[in-house]
Amino acid sequence: MIELVGVSKAFTQGRTPVPALREVSLSVDQGEFYVLLGASGCGKTTTLRIVAGLERPDSGSVRIDGRQVFGRSPDVWVGPEERPQAMVFQSYALWPHMTIRQNIAFPLRRGVRRPSGPEAAARVEEALGLFRLTEQADRKVTQLSGGQQQRVALARALALHPRVLLMDEPLSNLDARLRMDLRLELKELARRKGITCLLVTHDQEEAMMLADRVGIVHDGAIVQEGTPAELYGAPKSEFVATFLDHMNLIRSAEVTSCDASSGPEVTARGVRLRLGPGDHPLGGELTLGIRPGDIVVLDADDESPSAPNLLSGRLVDHHYLGGQYLYRFETPLGRLNVRSAVTPQRFAQGTVRLRLPAQKLISMAAGGTP
Ligand SMILES: Nc1ncnc2c1ncn2[C@@H]1O[C@H](COP(=O)(O)OP(=O)(O)OP(=O)(O)O)[C@@H](O)[C@H]1O
Ligand SMILES: [Mg+2]
Repeated sequence: MIELVGVSKAFTQGRTPVPALREVSLSVDQGEFYVLLGASGCGKTTTLRIVAGLERPDSGSVRIDGRQVFGRSPDVWVGPEERPQAMVFQSYALWPHMTIRQNIAFPLRRGVRRPSGPEAAARVEEALGLFRLTEQADRKVTQLSGGQQQRVALARALALHPRVLLMDEPLSNLDARLRMDLRLELKELARRKGITCLLVTHDQEEAMMLADRVGIVHDGAIVQEGTPAELYGAPKSEFVATFLDHMNLIRSAEVTSCDASSGPEVTARGVRLRLGPGDHPLGGELTLGIRPGDIVVLDADDESPSAPNLLSGRLVDHHYLGGQYLYRFETPLGRLNVRSAVTPQRFAQGTVRLRLPAQKLISMAAGGTP
């Protein structure tokens, strides 16, 4: 439905071209919800603007709905008005002299695909209700908060029932409760109407909840792509692992055994760690990751200290998270974050035993670059 192949784009700052996108390739299937996730300045808005036809790439090819809309040799260019999308802009782009209702209704009265009068009116009311705007519908948009304006921009785009919906951080200005509600409704509505969605965000929780597939963007390139579960369970690099979660990292782990029966084993800072099944060359160096919720806190003295995957930890501090605690322990592997429902009273003596289950240790290529 949306296909980018090898798309590059540089902006000139002064006289020097600064690359914003480097050979980006991605494809979003019909009806799929695809999320681009990345830090500020990594190229998310530029990618969306290229799909919308608001920015011209330097090279590569863009297809939407089977039709090439940008290409080189031969040069192909289809303008934004001829592309089948609606877009929610990061800056909202509302008409300041209009009310909420007029803003939503305006695009429905224009263009070749405009619905009949009663159908348009029904869509406006549906969008107002969905985004909790019915009561304020006749207020001027200049009198609205940022979060209210953001909802108007979303309502306006969805009321068009577009085949393709491009959304640039569409929920970033909402309070936590409303954001959660609208994520669920946005996903449900997109699915019900069969809308192909491309959304960009820097919020990993949002990406996880909304996406059928996520592309992680770093410095103008997609560094890993997959379903939320694939990315969460098997990040290929430290960058992806730490971007998605506050993963504990254990660097410079050397593969010291690859016995087929007991599984591969590494040694890091003198600690032996058994890993889950996997092929790792003997002597190779890995970075390991383990999530704070996957480390098990044991009662003292219930296993021998030299057994693999066990280590002692000295409590540094703890923070209440609501229902559970975040503990920080100083261990032979460095400082580890542990999330657990166990209450701090258990650690009155200050030292504990920690177990890093082999199946929960994620191995990835060493090094900080993606
Ligand atoms: N019109 C422009 N002229 C010059 N440089 C630009 C222009 N638009 C974007 N850039 C640069 O391109 C890079 C990518 O910008 P982009 O807006 O795509 O980032 P983003 O991922 O959307 O960031 P954010 O999360 O902050 O919105 C940035 O370094 C930015 O400074
Ligand atoms: Mg942006």
